[in-house]
Amino acid sequence: MEKKNFYLTTPIYYPNSNLHLGHTYTTIVADVLKKYKKSQGYDVFFTTGTDEHGQKLQDSAIKAGKKPLEYIDPIVESAKKLWKTLDIDFDAFVRSTDPIHERNVSNIFTKLYEKGEIYKGSYKGKYCVPCESFWTDSQLIDGCKCPDCKREVIESQEETYFFRLSKYGDKLLKFYKEHPDFIKPESRKNEMITFIKEGLTDLSVTRSSFDWGVKVPFDKKHVVYVWIDALSCYLTGIGYGTDEEKFNKFWPCDVHLVGKEIMRFHAIIWPAILMALDLPLPKKIFGHGWILFDDDKMSKSKGNVVYAEPIIERYGMDALRYFMLREFTFGQDGNFTYRKMLNRINSDLVNDLGNLVSRTVSMCEKYFEGFVPERYEENSIDEDLIQMAISCRDKVRCEMDDLNFSQALEEIWKLVRRTNKYIDETTPWILAKEEKFKRLSTVIYNLLDTIRIISALIKPFMQETSKKINTQIGVCDCNYEDLLSFGLLKVGTKVFKGENLFDRLDVEKEIEIISKENLKLLEKRKNQLVQQNSDKNTQEKITIDDFSKIELKVGKILECKEHPKADRLLVFKIDIGNEIRTIVSGIKKYYSKEDLIGKKVIVVTNLKPVNLRSVESNGMILSASDGENLSVLTVLSDMKEGSKVS
Ligand code: MSP
Repeated sequence: MEKKNFYLTTPIYYPNSNLHLGHTYTTIVADVLKKYKKSQGYDVFFTTGTDEHGQKLQDSAIKAGKKPLEYIDPIVESAKKLWKTLDIDFDAFVRSTDPIHERNVSNIFTKLYEKGEIYKGSYKGKYCVPCESFWTDSQLIDGCKCPDCKREVIESQEETYFFRLSKYGDKLLKFYKEHPDFIKPESRKNEMITFIKEGLTDLSVTRSSFDWGVKVPFDKKHVVYVWIDALSCYLTGIGYGTDEEKFNKFWPCDVHLVGKEIMRFHAIIWPAILMALDLPLPKKIFGHGWILFDDDKMSKSKGNVVYAEPIIERYGMDALRYFMLREFTFGQDGNFTYRKMLNRINSDLVNDLGNLVSRTVSMCEKYFEGFVPERYEENSIDEDLIQMAISCRDKVRCEMDDLNFSQALEEIWKLVRRTNKYIDETTPWILAKEEKFKRLSTVIYNLLDTIRIISALIKPFMQETSKKINTQIGVCDCNYEDLLSFGLLKVGTKVFKGENLFDRLDVEKEIEIISKENLKLLEKRKNQLVQQNSDKNTQEKITIDDFSKIELKVGKILECKEHPKADRLLVFKIDIGNEIRTIVSGIKKYYSKEDLIGKKVIVVTNLKPVNLRSVESNGMILSASDGENLSVLTVLSDMKEGSKVS
């Protein structure tokens, strides 16, 4: 068979030690698709990775008292470990901090600049600090809230480089028209078209308010902002700038799988950047829905996070993979519940598939001493089953071509259920009793050979289960072409009744157990975070001389104002006895301004000044934190401003 190439990607993930079931969804889907395409004879390449630049990460590292990479490295390792647990077979894991990738970003930026696709300007607008995004007035919710995170935006102005996105509106609409499969599902395409028709504005693609990113090569006070950086990982993964042969083999990408909230970046900004670079556009961008819990987005702070690890530990990876792909329609949101999952395991995996395999192999052992029997004359019931078995491959293919994973599995399960019905119709136990051995032999053969086909069809979804079935019916593997032929199982092969493929579950009891396991993990992860923060204080012992280098004084808060550019920061004027200091502090979340004015606090007075988003901070207010709560330090009795603290 001629080798064809297939390139697929998932988004690159923000380093998050807390990857939940929702995060694993795209990656599981990508892995199933990779295995399926491979079974069809494609040479498949799958890129995933981590998105490691930006202000949020820089801030988190500072908060943890670490350098950015020191903070990020272990988190990236934990993500890789999770993908390993889920048996995700990626070919490239691109970290946006990889030097090769950083060089690519730098070159791409320069190329776009030299072509006049990027120019320098100044941006004034509404900025969301947590999302690091500027928004136009029409995009804001209630005129003041970020459309992504719903938090209040601030007015901000800064010098920035712009990408000429505005000139690509018509080109994109034309491209969508000429390539009807480019954006899927259809509803997302309509959203993109509406967005473009409202008018595209040029896109700010650099930041100068932080420096954790790829520096603009010819203007080092700017860093390339997240989207050019992150999206280019798809090019880096297949050797852009390093391995031309590999790049030419796999680009353009066959499918970018992405969550619906980042569709705009993938279906509008990314194709425009590629057009500007004179690179061919990907063939498909698929925007899938979210996995919700209690019809709400999962989040650790809401405490409604479901993790994959306890599920895999208790029910196995195949059960989870099957459920995720069968239960939810790829493209739409789906509500996860343990009950739904457990019911599906019982009905589809234990009753339908597990029973079919175990009944058939048991009968082969009982009636034919465990050897695959001969196949004799067939009747219309047999032909009906055989026809269904050999036509299943192409029905599955039609669904998989459209990324209808749930329907593809339903096609396979129609065959599984039909095969179970065949047992009821042919009643092998009565044939045995009546000693109709030729007929019995044919029935058992047909069952076993249909199971051979079923096992190969489920393999991309449930590799381990397929392997177990093959061991039981005595086949090594079955290639894609063999799915169109019936009767390939060799007569005389020894079958082997192993353990049940899946055990029946007591749903109520299991809900209780698995919920507890999940909660335990949630608590453990929360504690790890608190521990990390306190570790930084105990890591290194210091001497009294070290301590005496720190100058601490009692200060009185005279004034407290919002930071003009950062909605999490407050700017204080503090009297420290001999002078009034300006100090910027991130305690806004915990106090209102009124609570603080007039209070005596402890100030580190000999810190080097730092520039925090254009305001110079000259010292630090001390506070205590347990990871969730924060309290500013003060003195028990009234002390004069400037009193020394030791
Ligand atoms: N770093 C960006 C992507 C840059 S790609 C060039 C990002 N990262 S993310 O970590 O926030 O999200 C990664 C993927 O996980 C996204 O596709 C997102 O939609 C997906 N999911 C996160 N939570 C999810 C659910 N609850 N359900 C389904 N997918 C979800 O965005």
